[in-house]
Amino acid sequence: MASKTILITGGAGFIGSHLVTLMVNKYPEYKIVNLDHLTYAGNLENLKSVENAPNYTFVKGDITDPKFIDELFQTYSFDGIIHLAAESHVDRSITNPMSFIETNIVGTVNLLNHAKAHWGDFEGKLFYHVSTDEVYGSLGETGFFLETTAYDPRSPYSASKASSDHLVRAYHHTYGLPIVISNCSNNYGPYQFPEKLIPLMINNIQQNKPLPIYGDGKYTRDWLWVGDHATAIDLIYHEGKNGETYNIGGNNEWKNIDLVHQLCDVMDGLLGQEQGTARKLITFVKDRPGHDRRYAIDATKIKEELGWEPQVQAAEGLKMTAEWYLNNAEWLNNITSGAYKAYYEKQYSDR
Ligand code: NAD
Ligand code: DAU
Repeated sequence: MASKTILITGGAGFIGSHLVTLMVNKYPEYKIVNLDHLTYAGNLENLKSVENAPNYTFVKGDITDPKFIDELFQTYSFDGIIHLAAESHVDRSITNPMSFIETNIVGTVNLLNHAKAHWGDFEGKLFYHVSTDEVYGSLGETGFFLETTAYDPRSPYSASKASSDHLVRAYHHTYGLPIVISNCSNNYGPYQFPEKLIPLMINNIQQNKPLPIYGDGKYTRDWLWVGDHATAIDLIYHEGKNGETYNIGGNNEWKNIDLVHQLCDVMDGLLGQEQGTARKLITFVKDRPGHDRRYAIDATKIKEELGWEPQVQAAEGLKMTAEWYLNNAEWLNNITSGAYKAYYEKQYSDR
């Protein structure tokens, strides 16, 4: 396989760290450059296993800074960019939309501009935007999101991701920049920041704190093991068709309340406590404003065209996730004892 230099943005975050680890280990002949601003969500502890690998480089920097990105493109001759850096939490987008506009929209355009300026005739180049199923809006009881589903973003987060998807496609159509986009459902697994549903619940069960369920708890999400997302991104980067979009999903729909019940039972087992103990912590709280009712992905295209299917089933994945958090108490404690503590307390005191 020919050597390549690939820029991965947001590689110190949840999904990015799984992707960086996969790429560094799988492609020793590549140079993987991880650019991350190390916001509250970025954590170099996630990358301990590859930090000394000869084909890996970490660069701290902000994707919204044009001078810095220009210098980065002058330093490295990138063959491709896999762009994950983003503000990613819907609740935070409701309280502070501007940082989502800056990072997710302005930051993406800044990367697009420099790819366009530095990549000559674009031969052998690829700009890959990692996006979300939330751009498609909200489903009723039935139906699935297809790649052709019209965009209907409804939160500041999903509107910012929809905007960046549109801009990536605009650079393809207007300037001929080679691009791919993938839109994925909810990920779960190790290293997820404990503001997201699954790690938040695991942490609260451990701490014997209330388990806040928004609204009636019947909101539905399709959950995908993060390692399966990383293999899909690797495959799309190498075999996806220029200009195309691929939906990625777990075929694994859960109503939030059912998922949390399942997680409570897994945690009771792992903590050696009587079944039913963790469920007693469940507390219904004020709903998320504009809360999307249901997401579900039709991932036929990536299955038929690229041969990808999720490998990890929910029962196994939830148990592996809960075990990982219990075995990595220091990682969790480092996060929950810092600025996150104030965020958590404010978030739930308002409800
Ligand atoms: P995350 O919040 O865990 O990580 C985001 C990373 O981006 C962090 O390391 C952060 O430091 C970095 N970052 C933020 N602003 C930056 C900036 N201005 N410059 C450079 N780096 C910056 O997010 P995640 O859950 O790993 O999501 C990664 C990507 O995948 C995002 O684009 C998100 O929209 C998308 N996505 C996430 C999910 C999910 O379930 N988590 C599902 C589908 C798509
Ligand atoms: O669908 C993909 C998206 O999934 C990604 O693009 C986002 O980056 C990612 O954060 C995720 O968004 P959600 O809003 O679906 O994830 P979150 O974990 O915040 O919430 C999952 C569901 O659980 C949602 O219906 C809201 C609910 N919830 C969440 C929290 C944090 C609760 O009921 N209680 C909670 O405390």
